[in-house]
Amino acid sequence: MSVVALVPAAGRGERLGAAVPKALVELNGESLLAHAVRGLWASGCVQHVVVAAPPTRIDVVTAALGSLGAAVTVVPGGSERTESVWLALRAAVAAVPDTEVVLVHDAARAFTPPEMIRSVVDAVRGGAPAVVPVLPLADTVKQVDADGRVLATVDRASLRAVQTPQGFARDVLVRAHEAAAAAALGATDDAGLVERLGEPVLTVPGHVDAMKITTPFDLAVAQALLTQRIT
Ligand code: C5P
Repeated sequence: MSVVALVPAAGRGERLGAAVPKALVELNGESLLAHAVRGLWASGCVQHVVVAAPPTRIDVVTAALGSLGAAVTVVPGGSERTESVWLALRAAVAAVPDTEVVLVHDAARAFTPPEMIRSVVDAVRGGAPAVVPVLPLADTVKQVDADGRVLATVDRASLRAVQTPQGFARDVLVRAHEAAAAAALGATDDAGLVERLGEPVLTVPGHVDAMKITTPFDLAVAQALLTQRIT
């Protein structure tokens, strides 16, 4: 029974302000996507990785991932993230028919610790239909109206920031995406689609190193993290 990881990396990532799609921005001569795939493979519990890449960059992405020693399939992504995940999921099931667990991972979380990846897989193997790694919030959170006026202070004790990889029993993720496609729904995360099915979603502890690289500041932090790991 196999574990397959899907990496939707077909977005433009405009907030980073780079000339290339965010997943292809390089740190130490390697793209964020390559760093992310290397981490998935280093977990030792992933048998295949399917990357949804920008349709015009399939060749360059395939070439860049070829030297990692990982089993990788690259497919063209869709116009929305949810569509890219769905396309990657269909390719994964076709390439690895005995897929039991599916991870969905952001390329932008390029330095996610392998032990965190293993903990997500273990929780799904332990019977959870869906699993998300989470962190408590450090900031106070306020709800505001359209003019920026504070409406309420939210009790942050019950709030969590969600990271990836998110892990799913294969059939649950397929059902969630079939339902989303039928209703033309998009989602910023796949666990949200599973919640719509009424299935429980379990949390496991996340890790600060699994930060999402979104802005130039984040990229500088990630560079520091990488330098610290190498030296
Ligand atoms: O834009 P955002 O950071 O929310 O995108 C999350 C992830 O979804 C990114 O890794 C991005 O490359 C991916 N994505 C995709 N296909 C799209 C849009 C976004 O694979 N059409």
